[in-house]
Amino acid sequence: MMFVNFRRIRKCQCVQLMTTCLVLSVVMLFWEQLDNNRVVTHVKSYSYRYLVNSFTFINKSFIIPREEARSFSNFHYLLDHPDKCANQDVLLLLFVKTSPENTERRKAIRSTWGNETYIQNTLSVTVKVVFALGAPHAKPAEEEHLQKELFLEDRLHGDLIQQDFTDSFHNLTLKLILQFHWAHNRCAHAHFLMTADDDIFVHMPNLVSYLQDVARRGVTDFWIGRVHRGAPPIRRKDSKYFVPYEMYSWSSYPDYTAGAGYVVSRDVVDKIYQATLALNASIYIDDVFMGICANAMRVSPQDHVFFSGEGKAPYHPCIYDQMMTSHGHIEDIYDLWREATHPQVKQRTSGLIGRLYCTAVKLTLLCKPYYFNTYPCKAAFL
Ligand SMILES: *[C@@H]1O[C@H](CO)[C@@H](O)[C@H](O)[C@H]1NC(C)=O
Ligand SMILES: *[C@@H]1O[C@H](CO)[C@@H](O)[C@H](O)[C@H]1NC(C)=O
Ligand SMILES: *[C@@H]1O[C@H](CO)[C@@H](O)[C@H](O)[C@H]1NC(C)=O
Repeated sequence: MMFVNFRRIRKCQCVQLMTTCLVLSVVMLFWEQLDNNRVVTHVKSYSYRYLVNSFTFINKSFIIPREEARSFSNFHYLLDHPDKCANQDVLLLLFVKTSPENTERRKAIRSTWGNETYIQNTLSVTVKVVFALGAPHAKPAEEEHLQKELFLEDRLHGDLIQQDFTDSFHNLTLKLILQFHWAHNRCAHAHFLMTADDDIFVHMPNLVSYLQDVARRGVTDFWIGRVHRGAPPIRRKDSKYFVPYEMYSWSSYPDYTAGAGYVVSRDVVDKIYQATLALNASIYIDDVFMGICANAMRVSPQDHVFFSGEGKAPYHPCIYDQMMTSHGHIEDIYDLWREATHPQVKQRTSGLIGRLYCTAVKLTLLCKPYYFNTYPCKAAFL
């Protein structure tokens, strides 16, 4: 009797052990799965971000001799407009990051949200919209053809700022440096600098009135957009954003704004310019490098709920009334521009009834229980 019991217990323990093993391996499997979804990495980097907080190592490890830092900025201008901002009170210098072949996108921007004449006439402010690009990268004959097209396009519109580095994803940081150097050398008196992707939509009237208000308050150290806090470097080699340990060895990046669209004040332009004269710019993710420069100069980004980052805004007048930027617009840009700036938007969204209606609409559009990459839920209450 005793013996049987003992054996049964041992059998039980064995089953228990096996079950535990099984559960553990399933958990491990899921853990792997989770890590593939970068949950674990994010928890790690987030804790790191709030434990370390100051990121003082940035200053030490990225400073290089000035002559070496210059190698990231001493490219020749193939196209330039030194007098673009001269003798004008420029509220905003807006740099669109583009590539030689994206002719249609530039055309769409010029005739919608980036139309300087329209902005001047209807909003009574000067906004300069210019395009930052590198040299075409293709077969030699094709390259020559593309560059000729660019010369023609620029003769027509006078808004291309081009340097002779290869225009490629891994040279985006050079494009960032181009923008800050050009802004510093040619347009330092502009109140604000914005940098934007060529597939975003900017609600120019909303942005202009917001920036006019910021300028009136004399705000400095201003850097606004969709903030990434405690973002982890991506270590999977198959990712577009892969960064090796030799390039950045810590678990988390300093805070930065999504490169799709952000705005800085002119004092920040000067600080970032100074940082680019001293820092190692070989990290090729441009918005991360911006975060590194800003951290070295003690500038922190602020979040604005209506800057969408990589997200796309829902189509609705209640959203148009407050939106600043929205990402991923190419074909729909003409329609969106017409609808978002229609006078009826203001009529439908103003007054007590309009505001209540819009709160309800935004709650249903933005506060979904599952993840939906757009403005955050709290935007519904503004
Ligand atoms: C820009 O706006 C002006 C004035 O509203 C208009 O006359 C002009 O055609 C527009 N430019 C383009 C490229 O659409
Ligand atoms: C970046 O541009 C430089 C200068 O044109 C070029 O030598 C280099 O190959 C480019 N890098 C990439 C990754 O395209
Ligand atoms: C800049 O950083 C890269 C690694 O990201 C490194 O290989 C290179 O030597 C550094 N440059 C200088 C001048 O220290």
